[in-house]
Amino acid sequence: MKDLKSVSYTKSRNKFYNQDCIKGSRAFIADNSVDLIVTDPPYGIEGDQLHKHYNRDERFVVDGYVEVEKEQYPSFSARWIKEVERILRPGGSMYIVSGYTNLNDILNGLMMTSLREVNHIIWKYNFGVYTTRKYVSSHYHILFYEKPGGRRTFNAYVRYGQVEKDTAEGSLNYKDREDVWIINREYKPGEVKNKNELPTELLVKMIQYSSNEGDLVCDLFLGGFSTAKVAIGLKRYAVGFELNAKAFSYQKSQIEKIKPGHLFDTLRKPGGRVLENYGKPWTDAEMTECQERFTKIYQEIRNKRKAVETVAAQIGRGYFSVLNIVDDFNPKTENSVLSRQERLI
Ligand SMILES: C[S@@+](CC[C@H](N)C(=O)[O-])C[C@H]1O[C@@H](n2cnc3c(N)ncnc32)[C@H](O)[C@@H]1O
Repeated sequence: MKDLKSVSYTKSRNKFYNQDCIKGSRAFIADNSVDLIVTDPPYGIEGDQLHKHYNRDERFVVDGYVEVEKEQYPSFSARWIKEVERILRPGGSMYIVSGYTNLNDILNGLMMTSLREVNHIIWKYNFGVYTTRKYVSSHYHILFYEKPGGRRTFNAYVRYGQVEKDTAEGSLNYKDREDVWIINREYKPGEVKNKNELPTELLVKMIQYSSNEGDLVCDLFLGGFSTAKVAIGLKRYAVGFELNAKAFSYQKSQIEKIKPGHLFDTLRKPGGRVLENYGKPWTDAEMTECQERFTKIYQEIRNKRKAVETVAAQIGRGYFSVLNIVDDFNPKTENSVLSRQERLI
């Protein structure tokens, strides 16, 4: 990550357009120019009527949400996804938030491009609906894709350090990077908002992991401008489109008040020790040393997990990296104290 103080910021590089994202991106966004796309397209399920199902106060919701007809959803999805493929830089990443009703159309649209799946994330979310004769819907899909041809930004330790543990001795970093996310809705009583505004916590997570300061973040469906607000709050540049003129003009005036980088103070700082040899290639001598250390400790304590953890801490490497060496049994030299069964656990 770049040094916070070293990156200057030019607010006028943020660009927002009150128009259709397909036409607009063709007109204003150059090929291969965007580092990260975070977007939440209309759902094709009469999203403009969602208030009939959800239990919430609609007085503060900006009206004019533009929905897409169900019959048009497949071609609409294919068209905007084609634009995304064009504007992302090689190695750029994209997160699409989608319900399950028309997920197949989005997946079909993606399959027609060269974009590649990185993860299919499940976002556990409380919609506030209640059912008695079926299960209660409680998740969104987040499709995490990349454009091939470049190095994808993934700041694996930007939120939790390499060796930070929770109270049950589990890795906090591992937990944060699992592909099921539990992030609750944001309650903003009395504040003007868009239908379906994404929570700040969710956006911070995606933007922190998948971009750096000064990168360009695009949202084709701005709604309440939540992606753009968080991007600017983290000193990224933002570009995007929104068809709803009412939401656009209100949110455009709001976003001008946002101070670039203001979210830095709210971020958790990764803690714990930095493993000095993390990710470095192994030499033969280091592998032998690792096996020897492990053998000695294991013979004393007979606990594989603890022995691997101890060796990893001693030699400044990750747990799984040491585990691979320990489990890499060479039948010619029989260089492991572990039985075959123990190596498999
Ligand atoms: C699901 S909402 C986005 C919500 C947003 N992520 C937020 O947190 O507020 C989808 C938005 O896309 C807008 N929209 C629909 N069709 C559009 C199009 N062709 N181009 C740009 N915006 C569009 C809708 O008016 C709606 O505000």
